[in-house]
Amino acid sequence: MQIVSSPAAMQRLAQKWQRAGTRIGFVPTMGYLHAGHLSLVQRARQAAGSRGKIVVSIYVNPTQFAPTEDLANYPRDLKRDLKLCRAAGVDVVFTPGDAAMYAGKAEGIYSTFVAEEKLSQRMEGATRPTHFRGVTTVVAKLFNLVQPDMAVFGQKDFQQAAVIKRMVADLNFPVKIIVAPTLREADGLAMSSRNKYLDAEQRAQAVILYHALQAASAAVQTKSISAARLKTDLQEFITAAPAARLDYVEFFDPETLVPAARVKRGTQMALAVFFGRTRLIDNARL
Ligand code: PAJ
Repeated sequence: MQIVSSPAAMQRLAQKWQRAGTRIGFVPTMGYLHAGHLSLVQRARQAAGSRGKIVVSIYVNPTQFAPTEDLANYPRDLKRDLKLCRAAGVDVVFTPGDAAMYAGKAEGIYSTFVAEEKLSQRMEGATRPTHFRGVTTVVAKLFNLVQPDMAVFGQKDFQQAAVIKRMVADLNFPVKIIVAPTLREADGLAMSSRNKYLDAEQRAQAVILYHALQAASAAVQTKSISAARLKTDLQEFITAAPAARLDYVEFFDPETLVPAARVKRGTQMALAVFFGRTRLIDNARL
């Protein structure tokens, strides 16, 4: 397994592979890897084939964090991540630094961003207004450096995957986007690098996100319910976890992300819940 930290070197390697007709599968991450990330690596391997090359990027991208967010505290363990990548059969781990990724930023001359302006507005975009602009910018940059034929994203960040798919279609990136299912802990909590922030009490209650998805799903299997009504019911449901504070719960069309007035089988649900300063998200197709 190769470790590449220079963006220019990464791009040269990718260009060499592309000239040789080697398929490149890519999994962008912010590190602190868990089984969910590794399932994306397996999916990339499946798509790129045994002779393809799999690149995992590990980069905590500053432009997708607001000044008040957890950039400085975001969990990092590169040594462990590299071990996991090696065991998972990754070919290249790309670990750029801030100075190289955003050359010119310190001098105040970096001035180009990529922004999706529709799907990114609600939910995560409403709570975190500059977040998706940072995500689309860094993913566009990573695509230019890694030149993947296919890139794998997790359903866990449903809105992020939708925004990336829109960007790829709108800007003609020659990259196939694959969205892979959410991996969960034994009790149903979606795996996330941020679960590490939870204390024992918060961790025990964090399963409320999954239970809320299940309860909503059960409620709409045989009938439709007004979104407003179901939101009120779920707000109430979540008070069963005293450490939890609901940020949002939304119901929407899984393709267009347009909010649904009535919730029925097949409607997408997403929610964000605070436990102290830790914010967890989850979603499912009901
Ligand atoms: P990060 O949060 O590290 O997630 C990297 C990828 O892993 C994302 O596509 C995410 O949806 C996926 N993932 C996270 N938890 C998962 C789980 N439990 N099951 C399956 N997949 C899961 O998302 C980002 O990083 C960044 O925004 C990034 C795209 C790398 C841009 O900086």
